[in-house]
Amino acid sequence: MKIRKAVFPVAGLGTRFLPATKSMPKEMLPLIDKPLIQYVVEEAVAAGIEQIIFVTGRTKRAIEDYFDKDYRLETQLRDSGKTELLKMVNAITDMVEVCYVRQKEALGLGHAVLTAKRLVGDEPFAVLLGDDIIEAPRSCIGQLIEKYEKYRCTILGIEQVPMEQISSYGCVAGTLVEPRTYKVSDLVEKPPVNEAPSDMAIIGRYVLTPEIFEIIEKTKPGRGGEIQLTDALRELERRQAIYACQFEGKRYDCGDKLEYLKATVEMALKHPQFGKPFGEFIASLPK
Ligand code: UTP
Repeated sequence: MKIRKAVFPVAGLGTRFLPATKSMPKEMLPLIDKPLIQYVVEEAVAAGIEQIIFVTGRTKRAIEDYFDKDYRLETQLRDSGKTELLKMVNAITDMVEVCYVRQKEALGLGHAVLTAKRLVGDEPFAVLLGDDIIEAPRSCIGQLIEKYEKYRCTILGIEQVPMEQISSYGCVAGTLVEPRTYKVSDLVEKPPVNEAPSDMAIIGRYVLTPEIFEIIEKTKPGRGGEIQLTDALRELERRQAIYACQFEGKRYDCGDKLEYLKATVEMALKHPQFGKPFGEFIASLPK
């Protein structure tokens, strides 16, 4: 079955980015001139996703407003002849069909995914986390979907990270079956370094089979008292094959202040309009 739907869990509290995230979702932080969430929606659309299901929480209204029509702004731009800006604003709302479901309490990523169960239905679907920004030659979730089309099972996006960082991630162990593709044999959420089965970290891109829902329903709160998606995946792996795809591209964890700064600088340096003057500015800074 084709992957048509993507779940975007955006109901987290974003505590690593306080105070900016006190009243604003981290997904709305701008990278150059677009909010983070737009990069991720564009990645999903490039992979053929037809419907996006946002799992939202308190303080996330700005995301709904962003993808909604703003008639007052459109009229103003039209009346003042700013047609290029008008086209840009319309393109955001026309990009893809979106719908929303509320996660009433931030009980964890697994719980957020479960909240989308009714809207997803009985079909495989993608999950994208809005703070992982991935610059890639081909849409990162598109790369996972290609693997899904070959293996017809759950596919996790993974990245090799320095071992000392593995305890910040879900971690997978597995056997290499083809370049950049592993058959998963174990999964652990945020393991201590000395207990980690590998240095392969699960990043914010997944293709999941719908069987995950009934497993999450039975998954008890794990690390941090949250219902962890990794714990549910571990159970799923006992019932079905899971593969992991080491995506091609570069990931920035923009939920982290330093990584967000790095993403801003690197992407500004590559920007067609600002790259050259920004590069000159950086070069002019005292060492
Ligand atoms: P994070 O682990 O990054 O948590 O969640 P967070 O709350 O967003 O950020 P920090 O760590 O406090 O700074 C991973 C993803 O899962 C979503 C988040 O929005 C983020 O995209 N999430 C997490 C939910 O939607 N609901 C939850 O209950 C937890």
